[in-house]
Amino acid sequence: HLAGRDEVWLFGYGSLIYKADFAFLEHRPATIEGWARRFWQGSHDHRGTPDAPGRVVTLIESSGETCGGMAYRVTPGVFEHLDHREKNGYLRLVTPLTFADGSTAEGLVYIAGPDNDAWLGPAPETEIAAHIARSRGPSGANRDYLLCLADALAELGYRDAHVEAVAHALRTRDSAVT
Ligand code: BEZ
Repeated sequence: HLAGRDEVWLFGYGSLIYKADFAFLEHRPATIEGWARRFWQGSHDHRGTPDAPGRVVTLIESSGETCGGMAYRVTPGVFEHLDHREKNGYLRLVTPLTFADGSTAEGLVYIAGPDNDAWLGPAPETEIAAHIARSRGPSGANRDYLLCLADALAELGYRDAHVEAVAHALRTRDSAVT
């Protein structure tokens, strides 16, 4: 129902936080309520391959939780580019956004649910880290995706226990490898 508008907010919670390869009018840190970020989506086309998918983030419904990210004010044409780039199981949903100053807006967010072909679902965070450590795809190493996301969230001041646990497990693994 955002059709017909000439500007739309897009909420990024994954690679869009640290890599915006599209034109935008403005970007602002923002949060969404009732969603939690999880490394539960398979990536066949960016951070893995069809035979060995990597793990990337999606959002799961989780009442009482808040997910921090970056909102971009864009023209609707941007979605043609992103719909193509993010075809691997993600659909667009409308959600309320809250900016740091407490003001709100409606925006679009890409979410991959359990019913998509690339869905991998939950696993212990140490296993997710091991999976990420061995995965790589056309966009690069899965570990770089994880570490860039963890760094970008830290820089924004958004805490995410799941991302921090997976990043910690990856770094612990690295220091244990001789
Ligand atoms: C995001 O950063 O919000 C995102 C990136 C790729 C696919 C879905 C979401």
